[in-house]
Amino acid sequence: MYKKNKKIIAFKMNNKLIRLLLFEDNPGDVRLIREQLIGVHDRFELHCAESLAKGLDFLDTNNIDAVLLDLELPDSHGLNTIKLVLAKNSSLPIIVLTGLDDENIAVDAVRCGAQDYLIKGSAGVTMLSKIIRYAIERKNAEKELKSSLEKLSRALSSTVKAMAMTVEIRDPYTAGHQKRTSNLARAIAEEMHLDSQRIEGVQLAGMIHDIGKISIPAEILGKPCLLSSLELSLIKVHPQIGHDILKEIDFPWPIAQTVLQHHERLDGSGYPAGLKNDEVILEAKILAVADVVEAITSHRPYRPALGIKKAIAEINREQGTLYDHVVVESCLKLFQDKNYLF
Ligand SMILES: [Fe+2]
Repeated sequence: MYKKNKKIIAFKMNNKLIRLLLFEDNPGDVRLIREQLIGVHDRFELHCAESLAKGLDFLDTNNIDAVLLDLELPDSHGLNTIKLVLAKNSSLPIIVLTGLDDENIAVDAVRCGAQDYLIKGSAGVTMLSKIIRYAIERKNAEKELKSSLEKLSRALSSTVKAMAMTVEIRDPYTAGHQKRTSNLARAIAEEMHLDSQRIEGVQLAGMIHDIGKISIPAEILGKPCLLSSLELSLIKVHPQIGHDILKEIDFPWPIAQTVLQHHERLDGSGYPAGLKNDEVILEAKILAVADVVEAITSHRPYRPALGIKKAIAEINREQGTLYDHVVVESCLKLFQDKNYLF
């Protein structure tokens, strides 16, 4: 670290001193930037590190508002320098200060998470000061937006859980079925390497996939013997009812469609529409397998639990005819290679 870097260049901006860490191994450039920052309004506290390692160490024990980053350091080169600083602290605004006048690298740097990309010496005194303050404000706005989205996502999850409870309270025999199905559907989606957003949608659809059973008389749901054909046809309405309940909610996932199709089968033998193959969306294909495996392994009012071996035999036998083979392979891997437990 440079000896002089403790010098505080103080100025009241919103009554707050802005603490900067400059990663720069060229003493001439350090001097230039320090003079620029002094020249404005004395509002910055500037610390310097001549290598990536020393800067990252400094971040361990010091609060910093923004980083000025040379991409070419003795121990780090190019965009990787940005990634390593963000790996240390992802909430730091980073302004790249470099000699590399390359538009493509500038765009890539911003994609990597830098707030701005400046060519050394290109920004005047006032401009550099503004760029730093704007970078900090943008990063703060980004943090607030992320936190609001997280809150919204938590609220959405809680709402879906509350909806799940409404059907399980009326139907204690399948209480927990939706949750266990949802967890298995998520694990299958992860095993298939779907993107994280899609995985979340599969999980949430699983949590409420039987919500349409709210319309079925409780005595039918809890009947301790096999159902008559009339009762079965009443039960078969639940995907459509579930869809109708959910279709007006503007989820960022195809939840209503997944719920509607979770009893469809690839050969057209399912319900309510008798859809075939790719007419069934992937989310519903995943949910169908998770639903069947959970149902076979659980106790039902009219029969005891049949066990995981029966469930595995069923999806193995029917893969490609009733169930999607990629989904089935992923589900089998979970139970046979990864010791998945409900
Ligand atoms: Fe169902």
